[in-house]
Amino acid sequence: MRLLTILPILLGLISSHFVSATDNGKTTDVTWDQYSLSVKGERVYVFSGEFHYQRLPVPELWLDVFQKLRANGFNAISIYFFWNFHSASEDTFDFENGAHDVQRVFDYAKQAGLYVIARAGPYCNAETSAGGFALWASNGQMGSTRTSASTYYDRWYPWIQKIGKIIAANQITSGGPVILNQHENELQETTHSANNTVVKYMEQVKAAFNEAGIVVPSTHNEKGMRSMSWSTDYQDVGGAVNVYGLDSYPGGLSCTNPDTGFNLVRTYYQWFQNYSSSQPEYLPEFEGGWFSPWGGTFYDQCSTELSPEFADVYYKNNIGSRVTLQNIYMVMGATSWGHSAAPVVYTSYDYSAPMRETREIRDKLKQTKLIGLFTRVSSGLLQMQMEGNGTGYTSDAGIYTWALRNPETQAGFYVLAHSTSSSRAVTTTSLNVNTSAGALTIPNIELAGRQSKIIVTDYRIGQGSSLLYSSAEVLTYATLDIDVIVFYLNIGQKGEFVFKDAPTHLTFQTYGNSKVNSGASNHGTKYTYTQGDGTTVLKFSHGVLVYLLDKETAWNFFAVPTTSNPNVVPSEQIIALGPYLVRTATVSGDTVSLVGDNANTTSIEVYTGNSKVTKIKWNGKEISTKKTPYGSLIGSAPGAQAKVSLPTLKSWKAQDTLPEIKADYDDSRWTICNKTRSVNSVAPLTLPVLYSGDYGYHAGTRIYRGRFDGMTATGANLTVQNGAAAGWAAWLNGVYVGGAIGDPTLAATSAELLFNSATLRKTDNVLTVIMDYTGHDEANVSPNGAQNPRGILGATLLGGEFTSWRIQGNAGGEANIDPVRGPMNEGGLYGERLGWHLPGYKAPKTATSHSPLDGISGAAGRFYTTTFQLDLDSDLDVPIGLQLDASADFPAVVQIFMNGYQFGHYLPHIGPQTRFPFPPGVINNRGENTLAMSLWALTDRGARLSQVDLVAYGAYRTGFNFNHDWSYLQPQWKNNREQYV
Ligand SMILES: *[C@@H]1O[C@H](CO)[C@@H](O)[C@H](O)[C@H]1NC(C)=O
Ligand SMILES: *[C@@H]1O[C@H](CO)[C@@H](O)[C@H](O)[C@H]1NC(C)=O
Ligand SMILES: *[C@@H]1O[C@H](CO)[C@@H](O)[C@H](O)[C@H]1NC(C)=O
Repeated sequence: MRLLTILPILLGLISSHFVSATDNGKTTDVTWDQYSLSVKGERVYVFSGEFHYQRLPVPELWLDVFQKLRANGFNAISIYFFWNFHSASEDTFDFENGAHDVQRVFDYAKQAGLYVIARAGPYCNAETSAGGFALWASNGQMGSTRTSASTYYDRWYPWIQKIGKIIAANQITSGGPVILNQHENELQETTHSANNTVVKYMEQVKAAFNEAGIVVPSTHNEKGMRSMSWSTDYQDVGGAVNVYGLDSYPGGLSCTNPDTGFNLVRTYYQWFQNYSSSQPEYLPEFEGGWFSPWGGTFYDQCSTELSPEFADVYYKNNIGSRVTLQNIYMVMGATSWGHSAAPVVYTSYDYSAPMRETREIRDKLKQTKLIGLFTRVSSGLLQMQMEGNGTGYTSDAGIYTWALRNPETQAGFYVLAHSTSSSRAVTTTSLNVNTSAGALTIPNIELAGRQSKIIVTDYRIGQGSSLLYSSAEVLTYATLDIDVIVFYLNIGQKGEFVFKDAPTHLTFQTYGNSKVNSGASNHGTKYTYTQGDGTTVLKFSHGVLVYLLDKETAWNFFAVPTTSNPNVVPSEQIIALGPYLVRTATVSGDTVSLVGDNANTTSIEVYTGNSKVTKIKWNGKEISTKKTPYGSLIGSAPGAQAKVSLPTLKSWKAQDTLPEIKADYDDSRWTICNKTRSVNSVAPLTLPVLYSGDYGYHAGTRIYRGRFDGMTATGANLTVQNGAAAGWAAWLNGVYVGGAIGDPTLAATSAELLFNSATLRKTDNVLTVIMDYTGHDEANVSPNGAQNPRGILGATLLGGEFTSWRIQGNAGGEANIDPVRGPMNEGGLYGERLGWHLPGYKAPKTATSHSPLDGISGAAGRFYTTTFQLDLDSDLDVPIGLQLDASADFPAVVQIFMNGYQFGHYLPHIGPQTRFPFPPGVINNRGENTLAMSLWALTDRGARLSQVDLVAYGAYRTGFNFNHDWSYLQPQWKNNREQYV
């Protein structure tokens, strides 16, 4: 570390003209100090959202998500790179096929104008299978993971080498978007000793990234105030990173009871002061939502977490705590498709995040935007000192205030919320502030329950103007031909503001229904109003334009950047108001061209600050516009309007998908389980080893066949471990003999199978065991974390001995025969092995025309396939899903395959998910689609679905292209699968 700018330090100056002064000795493109990060010499408030490209396997849609994030106030994304998605077997890596092409993540981020924070592990956690570790390595061969053990090092090092080089090539230093690089994740430094194997491991990770060419500052993500790890400012014995970070999930919310939880944490500032005082306050993961387990609630029901109030109160509290880098985890969770979930979650990773799994913009994201657009322009925030805090700032002791002061400009930021953050009280208070005009009291600040407000003092709003104070919240300001400032309040709340150094005899005109009064005060004219419905605009005689928006009108406000630089300055954004989404804006000649999306037809108002601009093009078409008296243009942006009708699913073909239960099934090509020692340190309960990982089968359904001779056996004891909620069933010579239906609280289940002697044969009895799978564990699950074995832990025959065992799993095992969909998409169900889920597969004449609604009687399984056409308007974005229902009384395992992608794992007896969305690219909005479903009963009661319907979540008329030729993402069935029977 060295000091970049010696002079101001020597002179004892603190000046925002000087960039943050510390660099890591490798680059000065990204530097830091105790206040903020600087990128290319400019301080920047990093407002970031976590997004996992693996969870949305359609590269073209990454740009859709990134544009939506940028439009909603974000300037960065934080990304995990999952080793398991890119490496199907030792020494193989795929960074090319389909969504494995990570270069496109960087390219689209850059195109959209977002920085990237890279987080490549080796361990991620992330509720993904094995926490991101490659599954081939997670069979136990890594030994002691997340330590300096050589068995572990030898496995992860090639991954960090490969992904590290790709990240390195995309650093800001080479014109790319990457500004920070995280080492490992939530790894606790419990013993601060250079000899600690974990410290040595962090040194190894650092060395590997260095070798790969990473020069941007390193970071880490401390696990929620549980230890003090990897800060250069605290007991640094090695392994420390440049910029320490702390994660926090304080919500403690209950999906079913909105009155519990909602307890703000107010100790972040002190924590950072204690452990990383020379660095800016960074929250690498802050609660954007929470994941939900098998048998839990579905995300759409988590009303408190989903509420805009959550974003408002929590993210503003972070600002009050002086945080200048916050990453919302998840901002958009998407889907744990194709067996990529860890057992702690079901298919949807919606996360109750601000952006829905379907890429739709929730009100929570709109509220988040108000904060992101504020931090974007509030450069004063980038150099804040904690002046004070507590309940003494307001006339009502029930209000807690953070008072932040910029030591150079004297700008003040007062962040108010109810001291009891869950309070639903409506409190009106006055606030005592210090300003350049002396101590003042700002009256009539209302907090309506779970609401937070940031009250600014000595706040610059452009070239020539500043606010002395405002009790209405600043949304943003734009420095155009004139200064435009935008305020927001709830309808009925009072606002008051005073310009600093305003000319005397200032006059203004009002357009809109909020009535504004001006009155003298001893520090200048004050303007007071009660927020009315919609938009009110004030045009002041010194040129300043003021928008007064009610909160929900503000939700459809955009400050659209006219630059692709993530760090947007106030002169590089224009005002657009009305639609659901405005992605981009360009001004050329007399026309401003906007690209956006609208569900309903809305008005659109644009202020460009350029009087030559007289026309609006919306999604390529000129719309008729009127000019307002204050210089903006108003027109109408069309919505989707038309009701979308989706086809009824019919013409199903059904085939038996459990032929292996029959005694005479030919399994001669299957893998013989002949190992007497496992690579796994967890000893098997019986021999031979029946862990599927020892035989190269990792994800999805696996099938075992155990043989024995004679008619004396009375039963068998089996213990099967495939993650929480994973059930299994067994058949003796074709007759169902029991199993376990899966339990959301148990990773392993045991059952005693009882044999009916009539079923036994003198020789060659076959016990077929078929098992579901919900993922590999994450690191925190004892005894062996991600390497906890999967498959049969032990099998004992009662009254006999098994003579042999064979296993079958996904076609090709680690061979990755479908590299586009990747190594985890397929399991070992017969129909999957033969590729019946793939587009282009034609069911033979022997297939019946049963549908999943007919179902199956008894312990059996069927694979259903059908095709359907969609012909949506080419300018519509219609998120489409499959709505299922079934009686919980018939335990069963259901998988959904859309055009070959396993995009749904449904357990009717466990739940909670019943609706499964497919992104465009997995589904074809225009053209043919192949839908396949597997259904097998976990008991002899049979199973059937009571509903299988396509559903539309919404419809948006859009300027984004959702109609590519997706065939490169949907490889077809090939006639080469007989070998996997
Ligand atoms: C670390 O290990 C070295 C070599 O084994 C030993 O000399 C030293 O005392 C150890 N230090 C600590 C702090 O345990
Ligand atoms: C409140 O502000 C004081 C003065 O800066 C600071 O010492 C203290 O740590 C702050 N309290 C909290 C809870 O952050
Ligand atoms: C469109 O209008 C309908 C009916 O007023 C409303 O329920 C829906 O929320 C609107 N959609 C959006 C995205 O604003």
